[in-house]
Amino acid sequence: MCGIVGITSNKQVTTSIINSLRKLEYRGYDSAGVATINEGHLNEVKCEGRVDVLEKNLSKSNLKGTIGIGHVRWATHGIPNSVNAHPHSSESVSVVHNGIIENSTLLKKLLIKKGHKFKSQTDTEVIVHLITEYLKKNDLKKSILKVLKKLHGSFALGIIFKDQPDLIVGARRGSPLAVGYGPNENYLGSDSYALKSMTNKISYLNDGEFCILKKDNVEFFDKKGKKVNKKVLEVSLDGQNYDKGDYKHFMAKEVEEQPTTIKNCVNEYIDKVNSDINIFNFPWKGNEISSIMLIGCGTAYHSCLMAKYWFEQLTTLNVNVDIASEFRYRNNRFKKDTLYIFVSQSGETADTFAALDLCNKNKMKTCSVVNVVESSIARESKFVLPIHCGPEIGVASTKAFLGQMLVLYILCLKISKMRKDIDKKKYLEKIKSLFSLSKLTKQTLETDNKVQSVCSSFAEIKGSMFLGRGYSYPIALEGALKLKELAYVHAEGYPAGEMKHGPLALIEEGMPVVVLAPRDEYYKKTISNMQEVIARGAKVLLITNKSKDEVYSENIWEKIEVENTSEDLLPFLITIPLQKLAYYSALKRGYDIDKPRNLAKSVTVE
Ligand code: F6R
Repeated sequence: MCGIVGITSNKQVTTSIINSLRKLEYRGYDSAGVATINEGHLNEVKCEGRVDVLEKNLSKSNLKGTIGIGHVRWATHGIPNSVNAHPHSSESVSVVHNGIIENSTLLKKLLIKKGHKFKSQTDTEVIVHLITEYLKKNDLKKSILKVLKKLHGSFALGIIFKDQPDLIVGARRGSPLAVGYGPNENYLGSDSYALKSMTNKISYLNDGEFCILKKDNVEFFDKKGKKVNKKVLEVSLDGQNYDKGDYKHFMAKEVEEQPTTIKNCVNEYIDKVNSDINIFNFPWKGNEISSIMLIGCGTAYHSCLMAKYWFEQLTTLNVNVDIASEFRYRNNRFKKDTLYIFVSQSGETADTFAALDLCNKNKMKTCSVVNVVESSIARESKFVLPIHCGPEIGVASTKAFLGQMLVLYILCLKISKMRKDIDKKKYLEKIKSLFSLSKLTKQTLETDNKVQSVCSSFAEIKGSMFLGRGYSYPIALEGALKLKELAYVHAEGYPAGEMKHGPLALIEEGMPVVVLAPRDEYYKKTISNMQEVIARGAKVLLITNKSKDEVYSENIWEKIEVENTSEDLLPFLITIPLQKLAYYSALKRGYDIDKPRNLAKSVTVE
């Protein structure tokens, strides 16, 4: 992962670098650093921990410079500490890196033989020494070309040179990199978001390209060193709200924003007057698609899994789902009549991007469902469906999950109608039920007190299981993932009907089990499975929807009821108490909710 920034200017740059690094903390936050060139010297300040710590250290060190690079790290090679923090520097060169150099061990051995001394455990340091070595006999451009040829793996780089105090080199392979243009200064950043407070004029490097940034001009080159022309794009200076307001955490705010997420999405995609779907310019006809492949990672994968149930229910298509890191290495049978759908909040997840790239190279039909419309995945997809959630800052994905599910549901209805798989009456019914979803989500958020009281018990637990069938199975996986990543509790999501094939052995007296049993077609079966775990001592928290029929609630430990809607929209509502369960459990344990340990918001390594 990691975030990189570079600025060359006629003004001091450290404050702007720190501001950009704060925006890049979603990519990593275990250590940080800045390097500048000042009066012929390369200087760096690095620390373990967050940008706040770096800022304090910088104020003590009085680091100056009108050119500099900065980095926030998510450790891959070497523990998070100030030595392994970037930038990594030799006497003459300083480098920030996002990605992984796969042949670093071999390169390191060769460089040590040549007399180079390494300080850190990182893969990045080989880049510093390689450049230093090539610069002995070559000019800057030739040295860069030679270094890039030697490196295997993925990277985005920012490099400054003591003897060239007016320029920054940027290079990318695999990992994204943007260039921003300002008045008498230019910028390098992992994304346009990091640069938005300084400029809205952006260019993106294509895979294999590098650039040379000076304060008054930028040159781009392909992997052979041939100059390339770049379009300058004007991205929106979105004026989005990036602060927590009165909330304690971004996650709390983002969970509460979900009714708005749904409202925005419905307004964007549904024509209320004609009760129809506003997805224009969809590039393929219904009869050109006979199967769907949905691909994502983590929470986004869960929304793909959810969509499989809807597509199978509402269309006659064959539907498959895959985890991006598996799909990309599988011996796939690419088929022209398959629509490949990539789901990603950030639009930068390395495995999802690689899977998309693979499909594009095989000339497949590719469509993405993303939150960040300027992201790499959005840019490379043949068709893009934004989820219109606004920025999601908390590392745990919440409102984006609901947004992804909603867009996939709407896409499913659209394709179903195009293929004439759904009759008009049912189509109109489904559209109509979407109009009340935002309000129902808001009402379901009011289960807050109940979840808080349940959480005092959850905060103490060592492990838990989340069970569901049908539509509730992907949500069980999502509930377990949230509890793991936020409260650091081992939690397993499982299809309720599978318990007796092994995991039932885990159930012992007092073990907390969350059973998702909304009144849908699977309800009775799930309730039977619930009885099986209760009979073996489980302490069951039942999540269901409100109903006139009393649920069989004997021996249940606690029950949370969400609002009522059509069966296929209930997953939206039962997700909410699970998000809150994870939130309050983590709060009670005193963990850093918006930045859980070992994680990052955007996963840009494989
Ligand atoms: C979990 C979470 C992750 C992401 C995953 C994919 O709360 O946030 O599992 O869902 O890393 O990220 P995107 O959606 O950005 O591709």
